[in-house]
This record gives sequence, structure tokens and C-alpha cells, in this order.
Amino acid sequence: MRFDDKKVVITGGVGGIGQALVRLFASEGANVLFSDRSEEDCAELRETLKRKELNTRYLAGDLRQKSYCETLIAHAAENLEGIDILINNAGIIPRGNILETNDDMWFSALDVNLTAVFFLCRAAIPHMQQAGGGAIVNTSSTWGIYPGPGHIAYCTSKAAVAALTQSLGRDHAPDGIRVNAVCPNEVNTPMLRTGFTQRGIDPASAIEKLGKTVPLGHVAEPEEIADVIAFLASHDARYVCGETIEVTGAKPVYG
Ligand SMILES: NC(=O)c1ccc[n+]([C@@H]2O[C@H](COP(=O)([O-])OP(=O)(O)OC[C@H]3O[C@@H](n4cnc5c(N)ncnc54)[C@H](O)[C@@H]3O)[C@@H](O)[C@H]2O)c1
Repeated sequence: MRFDDKKVVITGGVGGIGQALVRLFASEGANVLFSDRSEEDCAELRETLKRKELNTRYLAGDLRQKSYCETLIAHAAENLEGIDILINNAGIIPRGNILETNDDMWFSALDVNLTAVFFLCRAAIPHMQQAGGGAIVNTSSTWGIYPGPGHIAYCTSKAAVAALTQSLGRDHAPDGIRVNAVCPNEVNTPMLRTGFTQRGIDPASAIEKLGKTVPLGHVAEPEEIADVIAFLASHDARYVCGETIEVTGAKPVYG
């Protein structure tokens, strides 16, 4: 299988894209350790997967804490006996323009979406160097490349993730470590659905309507993004490094 015996760390494992990633990597032979905020949600996901004969591990915690980020990587390196692939998928989306964004929204976006990625990569890279190479896939966003309206903290954090990815990709290519980012447009996950719910809009009909604005005919399902991330992490992408890959169903970003 594509990821036989690969040692893989996935953040945001309980979320929409995260669950698709954990399932995909575990079902393609990887030894997966995933992370998310809630111990209970992580345990439930692990049990659900176990019933499908997919064995995974997890370590729950808050990525806003530097100590948790570093412990996560140390725990993975010890329990998986190394790290081959790091998927920085966790993210949050504080909504608002600058006047609507308080300090907590700003720092939370930067802490989860950007600084945790910095801490996790910094801790994981020595393990990959020791193994003679590895792959990191970060999750930016089309809004990190073409900022959309009314999400200043989110767009700024995702733009920084794109720059971090390009910079790391250049610096660590000589180590055989490929660093890339995926930049999705809208994806049918709790992140997108709660945005509609908060505005009093029924998410199912809103997503169906939104799908009509996508030339491919639907809003991306989490598996359609997980497949691209897995490709970037796989041997098939062995010459792809320092790239930000837009996954949009051909929908231009505007607003
Ligand atoms: N859904 C979209 O439309 C969309 C579009 C572009 C990019 N993205 C990005 O894709 C990634 C996955 O998002 P998703 O759509 O699956 O969202 P999601 O909300 O379903 O999942 C995100 C996960 O990250 C976890 N997380 C958040 N803060 C954390 C913290 N402090 N510590 C530990 N875990 C934390 C959440 O608990 C959640 O399980 C994110 O980085 C997001 O920004 C999503």
C-alpha cells in the first residue's frame, strides 16, 4: 500500500478534512497518530476506526500551547519510532474585518493556524533529517493567496502559512524533506457549515446553492481535499516541493 509502515502525524484529526485524512492514511497502511482538542472526540474517533479494523493513536491537546505542540511530536517520535509525514491540517476561522476582530480572535488565528505549524515543523524536521527525508503538508487556503472579504485574521494567518511552506520547502529540500501546502476553496465541513448556521442559514441548502457557483458542480467534499494532501505526501509527488496547490473545482476566488 502507498503508505505502508509510514509514520504519520495529523492535526485536526477529528474535523471534517481531518477525519478523511486519518481514515485514508490508516487504510493505506500508515501508522497514524492524530491530534485534536477534545480527548472524548479523539477517543470516539479511534474507537469508530477500530471497529473498521483501522488502528490509530491519538494525543489530545490545545495547539495554542507550545508545550503541547512539542510534546505531540516527541510522543509521536517515541510511539511511532520516528516521523515520516506531518500533516498540519488543524485550523480555525475567526470571522470579521479589522474593526470586528478583537485581540483574542487575532491571536487565536495566528496561534492555531500559523504558530502551531511553526512549532510542529521545527520539532519534526530533526526526526525527518535523521530518517533521511520526509514530507510535510500544510493547509493554507485560497484565501491565503487571494484574501476574501471580512476574514482578516484568517486570511493573514493562511497567507503566512503559504509563505512558511515555500520558505521551508526551499530550506529543507536538500535534506530530502518536501514541504508543500494545499489551498482549498470551500469544503463541506463543520468549518463551512457553522458559518451558515451562525448567520441563521440552513447549511445543507446553502451548500447546495454554493455548489452551483463551482464549475465542477459541487462544493468539495473532505475526501477530495484529503486525496490531494495524500498525493503531496506520497512518493508520487517526489519532485513537488515548496508549492502551494490550489484546489478549487475551477471556481475563481472573488468577493
Ligand atoms: N472548510 C473549508 O471551506 C476550508 C477551506 C480552506 C481551508 N480550510 C482549512 O482546512 C483545514 C481543516 O478544516 P476543516 O474544514 O476540516 O475544519 P473543521 O473545523 O472541521 O476541523 C478543524 C479541526 O481543527 C481542530 N482544532 C482547532 N483548533 C485547535 C486547537 N487549538 N488545538 C487542537 N485542535 C484544534 C478542531 O477541533 C477541528 O477538529 C483548516 O486548516 C482550514 O482552515 C478549510
